Amino acid sequence: MKLSSLFFLIALLAGNALAEDSRQLAPLPPPAQEALREEMRGNLLAINEILSLMAAGKVKEAGQLAETSLGQSAMGRHRGKPLDARPGAHMPPAMHEIGLDGHRAASEFARVAATGDRDKAIAELPKLTGACVACHYSWRIR
Ligand code: HEC
Repeated sequence: MKLSSLFFLIALLAGNALAEDSRQLAPLPPPAQEALREEMRGNLLAINEILSLMAAGKVKEAGQLAETSLGQSAMGRHRGKPLDARPGAHMPPAMHEIGLDGHRAASEFARVAATGDRDKAIAELPKLTGACVACHYSWRIR
């Protein structure tokens, strides 16, 4: 087999592996899906602002934002909604646990950032984004 066709074959197989979604399905009612996705867009915005603050050397501010937007202080924001619009209430326990890990990681980052130690705070950041990755790579809602 020519080398170029071998590469083609590998690319084809890799493409198939990606097309086959092996993530577990978490069945959420449509209003909960909508609430989750809206919260997620806020998460992305928050991560970007936290990184911007860190880059600007505003470590304590980054920590404060992490706590209020992603940390344990940000838990339960759907509590007042009807049950079918509350994402956490419909998540399988293993999925919910990853979400809780993310909140805990954000609060841990916030605690370290509150000391103003930039290097130590930076070392906490991958744990925070790690929760986003862990959930997205194991769970889907559609
Ligand atoms: C507990 C699981 C979980 C965690 C943790 C999680 N996500 Fe998500 N995220 C989801 C699911 C489920 C969806 C919906 C995917 C879909 O629409 O099919 C989603 C969707 C999104 C979207 C797309 C929103 C849209 O408008 O469709 C963004 C952006 C996102 N997440 C960012 C993040 C970021 C950033 C983090 C970490 C701070 C994070 N997520 C943590 C489960 C999670």
